[in-house]
Amino acid sequence: MKILFVAGEVFPLIKTGGLADVVGALPKAFRALGDEVRVLLPAYPEALARVVDPGTPLSLGDSLGYGEARLIPARMPDSSLEVFLLDCPEAFARPGGPYLDTEGRDWPDNFRRFALLSRVAALIGVAGGLIGWQPDIVHAHDWQTGLVPVYLRQWRGNAPGTVFTIHNLHYQGVFGADVLPEIAVDPAFNVMDGLEFYGNVSFLKAGLVYADRLTTVSPTYAREIQTHAFGCNLDGVVRQRAHSLRGILNGIDQDIWNPAADPAIAAPFSAADPSGKAVCKAALQRACGLAADPEAPLLGFLGRLVWQKGVDIVLAALPRILDLGFQVVMQGAGEAGLERLCREAAAAYPGRVAVHVGYDEDFAHRIEAGADVFVVPSRFEPCGLTQMYALRYGTLPVVRRTGGLADSVADVDESREGTGFVFDGETPEALAETLSRARRLYARPADWRAVQARAMDKDFSWRAAAVRTREVYESIKKNKP
Ligand code: ADP
Ligand code: GLC
Repeated sequence: MKILFVAGEVFPLIKTGGLADVVGALPKAFRALGDEVRVLLPAYPEALARVVDPGTPLSLGDSLGYGEARLIPARMPDSSLEVFLLDCPEAFARPGGPYLDTEGRDWPDNFRRFALLSRVAALIGVAGGLIGWQPDIVHAHDWQTGLVPVYLRQWRGNAPGTVFTIHNLHYQGVFGADVLPEIAVDPAFNVMDGLEFYGNVSFLKAGLVYADRLTTVSPTYAREIQTHAFGCNLDGVVRQRAHSLRGILNGIDQDIWNPAADPAIAAPFSAADPSGKAVCKAALQRACGLAADPEAPLLGFLGRLVWQKGVDIVLAALPRILDLGFQVVMQGAGEAGLERLCREAAAAYPGRVAVHVGYDEDFAHRIEAGADVFVVPSRFEPCGLTQMYALRYGTLPVVRRTGGLADSVADVDESREGTGFVFDGETPEALAETLSRARRLYARPADWRAVQARAMDKDFSWRAAAVRTREVYESIKKNKP
């Protein structure tokens, strides 16, 4: 099969979160199954600088008023997978991130930037002849690409099948309805059963309503988003499409997240020979100014500093966590208020709490490798990758029972196959109580090592997800005339 992935980010070209990891890794798993995936993303300066073998650009003319846009075929630096960069300097050659400016504000023309991306994906879908490659399926990811099936319907013709994956229902791409003429969307779509959303238009809802099939990134999240509590005001829409929705747990890139061959960590280790993990822990303590104590359990946190991730719950539980004897290392970037609270916690407990505010891919590997326990107290978590990385590095996860966290971690006190600790609710008390269970197991080294070995043995490769996603593609093909 020929599949075009389209997304706002892909690792290792550009990354703000797990979406990039998924879009970078899943195509490789399809390639192993004999399918051909190409990825379309904007030609951000970072992406342009990192691709290899760029080919002759194809002019797309002036679309949506940004001036000339071009399609640059190239390859990924690590996998030689083929990518198309949508080169339109007016839209994408800016300082700051893919979605936010240097001050952390949404780019004011995000509606137009990502409409352009979606439009070009649809164009490749109907007129692949232009580039000599016609996809059977266009697979769009998150709100930035929600308009892909809208443009395809607008143009009719011999359109490919469309899949829309919800990585996070909370980010919706909602704009005033007055943007529609500027992005050449037919006003006929601006109806309650279409992309209209409380008087505005929602790119996410467009994807939910008009794609042939929907997927999301874990079975539990697929159920949760049909409820009022997790549905972000779209649960009714999701319920209407429940028969077309499938929850498929993400995998992880086991080449990049491999403790036996990870260039970022102090010493390699594996389930068979875990001795290097102590070296990684000592190096991490040294690097963050924590007391060099091999016995103290070291708790790691890593993630975007936003309400979703529940970092405030960790901060509120800190006195109790420290009373249990833990050292704490945290890395994250995001909302200024949460960044400040994290810095204050580090200042309040020198030598016991270390905080790195910022984005650092290598240091993320060092935390996963060097910590003993990894905490993910998210209020909701569609899938979550960091807890799976932690399992692979023998760092036992403590997670809230939600979304992909519930689907990837089994509690040691609830299952003989347990690999971590799971708690309900979102109170600092529940978190501290569960960390005290972890602390008690940590005091029994032989039992701890047995759970670690089980965690490290878990298979989170992408193959299973690729096979299931392929079934979704097949079901579209079967139903197409
Ligand atoms: P989300 O996509 O909601 O941010 P995931 O757990 O799916 O959550 O993915 C987060 C990804 O981003 C992981 O690869 C994680 O290692 C990475 N990450 C998050 N924050 C940072 C940071 N401050 N520095 C380095 N990597 C980070
Ligand atoms: C989103 C979710 C996260 C998920 C990631 C990749 O950003 O917040 O839970 O793992 O997408 O699917």
